[in-house]
Amino acid sequence: MISKLVIPAAGWGTRFLPATKAIPKEMLPIVATPAIQLVVEEAANAGMEDVLLITARDKQAIENHFDRSADMEAFLAARGDDTLREVLINISQLARIHYVRQGEALGLGHAVLCARDHVGNEPFAVALPDDLIRSDDGCLSELLSVYKKYRCTILALQRVPKEKLSSFGVVSAHRLGEGLWEITDLVEKPPPEQAPSDLAVVGRYILEPEIFSALETTGPGVGGEIQLTDALRVLATKRRVIGWEFSGHRYDVGNHLGFIKATLEYALDSSLGPQLRDYLTELCEQLRFRRYD
Ligand code: G1P
Repeated sequence: MISKLVIPAAGWGTRFLPATKAIPKEMLPIVATPAIQLVVEEAANAGMEDVLLITARDKQAIENHFDRSADMEAFLAARGDDTLREVLINISQLARIHYVRQGEALGLGHAVLCARDHVGNEPFAVALPDDLIRSDDGCLSELLSVYKKYRCTILALQRVPKEKLSSFGVVSAHRLGEGLWEITDLVEKPPPEQAPSDLAVVGRYILEPEIFSALETTGPGVGGEIQLTDALRVLATKRRVIGWEFSGHRYDVGNHLGFIKATLEYALDSSLGPQLRDYLTELCEQLRFRRYD
């Protein structure tokens, strides 16, 4: 069915400077796993075997991460640490990973357009690595199930408080069923009072290849960038676009607080969980008596 996923990963990561001076922001770890690996794992769990990363200059650490590492593997083998060696080898087997560079930072829409030659004339998925989504089945799997039924463009949606809508693409839609919406229009980062609803687009999409011709004729929008939302808006006038309120929790790891929240939640679910729970309980107790004025 849909086997290709595109991950735009060309951004500068200025919000995480100085950490991102020499390290791509996508490589910052959630506990000990780079955020981008969690997204590739979500795709692998959804049965997608082909991942195209849209990268940029100075992002080689991402390629190294998904490649074999003969020296490190040999070192671990000599030390008898086969478990960790397997962990490293498995990363390179998650998917067939390809790379295309986005030479100029012209926006998300332009990054997706860079995938055109690789994707060809078939539907494909897009995942934005700033959005980490924790759910039982995985957000991409959920979108694929909806796609199987409707065979059209499918967008992941989330209800967002009014004051935060200006950070998202926001849709006009009418309800088709529980969590399911027929999208008639979209607007990128509207002022809250002009937002057509409280349903925001989150970084998981199933797109039909017609998006490429729409992107080709899309001029700069919000922030002077070529916006995927603007091309989707054109597409929605010609073809069916459906929205799905996915289950689970989304973390915006593109900002500090979201990154810390994701780290805590993933750590609570890991082998560190019991110790971290004790520590957090103790910390909460202390915070009740601390003064911050
Ligand atoms: C991008 C999209 C926006 C979407 C958001 C989801 O914005 O342009 O439509 O709602 O991702 O995270 P960004 O957060 O990259 O500015």
